[in-house]
Amino acid sequence: RTAELDSICLKAEVLPVISLERLEDAVPLGQALVDGGLTVLEVTLRTECALEAIKRMREALPSASIGAGTVLTPAQYRQAEQAGADFVVTPGATEALYRYGVESPVPMLPGVATVSEVMSGWQYGYRRFKFFPAVSSGGISALKAFAGPLSGARFCPTGGITLENAGEYLALENVMCVGGSWLTPKALIDEENWAAIRELARQAAERFHH
Ligand code: 3PG
Repeated sequence: RTAELDSICLKAEVLPVISLERLEDAVPLGQALVDGGLTVLEVTLRTECALEAIKRMREALPSASIGAGTVLTPAQYRQAEQAGADFVVTPGATEALYRYGVESPVPMLPGVATVSEVMSGWQYGYRRFKFFPAVSSGGISALKAFAGPLSGARFCPTGGITLENAGEYLALENVMCVGGSWLTPKALIDEENWAAIRELARQAAERFHH
């Protein structure tokens, strides 16, 4: 599980968080991000077309890993599996999700904000977590503090990450990648400005990818 998540996250240090209002934007938006150099994408289940968007992106973008985000329940987890998601991201973690994730063929990156939440996941074998909401949950100094007691755990900080602060996070030993919606501004999606989104992705890929 940990190795599977590492192989996905190591493909890209920056994970765009995508919320889609219109299904027809899914493939061109995904293509713009991939063309810009970001190949691991998280589509949040916050909008009605999200599951269908994941299906279409899976088919149209074979070089990308497509995750389902904002998964709150095992039922949504199952829907994400059925849509073909390569991984699942949750904003927080419940025992039910931890249990479901252990059995699922699709790996889960559970959201945590505290040491206790990491410890709950640890019992089930989880070692990779989304740190959310990163900046308001203590940011860099929280992650540095986690490194002491939680050696072996690695995080994808998300929530308040920007092009400007991402580098500081990625420099930490226990950070494997960062996530954020700064790469997919709603205004650019609404105007179908795929060139501008490709440029945002390119900037991030150029700055942070090894
Ligand atoms: C998420 O669900 O991961 C967040 O909405 C992303 O946070 P951001 O909008 O602050 O990047």
